[in-house]
Amino acid sequence: MENDRISAETTILQADAAALGAARTAVLAGDIVAIPTETVYGLAADATHGEAVAKIFAAKQRPAFNPLICHVSDIAMAERYVTFDPVSRVLAGRFWPGALTLVLPLAESHDIHPLVTAGLATVALRAPRGFGAQLIEAVDRPLAAPSANPSGRISATTAQAVARELDGRVRLVIDAGPAPVGVESTIIKVDGDTVRLLRPGGIAAEDIEAAIGRPLVRAEQRAAIEAPGMLASHYAPSVPVRLDAARVEPSEALLGFGPVRAAGAKHAHAVLVLSETGDPVEAAANLFEHMHRLDATGATAIAVEPIPEAGLGEAINDRLRRAAAPRGQS
Ligand code: TXA
Ligand code: MG
Repeated sequence: MENDRISAETTILQADAAALGAARTAVLAGDIVAIPTETVYGLAADATHGEAVAKIFAAKQRPAFNPLICHVSDIAMAERYVTFDPVSRVLAGRFWPGALTLVLPLAESHDIHPLVTAGLATVALRAPRGFGAQLIEAVDRPLAAPSANPSGRISATTAQAVARELDGRVRLVIDAGPAPVGVESTIIKVDGDTVRLLRPGGIAAEDIEAAIGRPLVRAEQRAAIEAPGMLASHYAPSVPVRLDAARVEPSEALLGFGPVRAAGAKHAHAVLVLSETGDPVEAAANLFEHMHRLDATGATAIAVEPIPEAGLGEAINDRLRRAAAPRGQS
């Protein structure tokens, strides 16, 4: 087991059996642990333990009105906490484990702490792949886990990014390498006959529509009520972000997409390309890490080339628009 000390207070462990034991002990003791999932790294705690969940909010400095996604191992475990409508059941059957979160009504009796749901009558559930799934089985409790980054900052897709962003605020970070999907899960809520896309994410809306044979209803940009975590200026790097850039200034960093660079790219402060071939899946996997790296170059701004909306392009553009939104607005 490799043991990498980032600071006196944050330890990174490679995701192996010993790390699973350490994470299990921490979760059962009511502590928070940063864990890899296929989408982004999560800051996890026992969802039934109020104090443990409070530590997540404290570490993220997240507004407490913002409900958290709760992670379960499968549909059977989910049924301890929620009731499924037929469409949600189809979606869970098709996409779990995976990058799909379903907002579902809480069962009459359940022990998920109200801090997780911000007092709502619903809870957002998903079954992750990999280490997260193993940890849930090891503790046999649902894990509340938002993305492992300070509130309003870019989501972390590597253990190193978690340690850097939350340094000193989480003791244990489990490292399973770069998160393969790279953007957060897609959030869906079935509302009678309406199937709502609350947040575009790691599973393309088109794939969900194909699975249920009907179109999704997009949440309005400012429908803060439905997904209160979707603050306009979420995911912000420290410098301004400029979208749909046809050219880049010498003081700016360029985030590219596809084979052709924006005018001025040769003289740009820095250039990183999300996908040379224009593949939105590859671009999603690189998005947050490239933003982190460009943010750290000392450029005056990050100029972003246009990215088509198809497939995961919708989720990528959603995150980029939030990164570009005026700061300080909630
Ligand atoms: O990929 C992911 O989903 C990552 C990984 C770690 O699993 N998790 C994640 O969680 O992104 P978080 O907590 O950062 O995002 C939670 C989102 C927020 O937009 C929140 O408002 C919404 O889910 N949400 C949570 N509970 C909800 C509910 N009951 N109804 C509507 N939206 C809800
Ligand atoms: Mg987040």
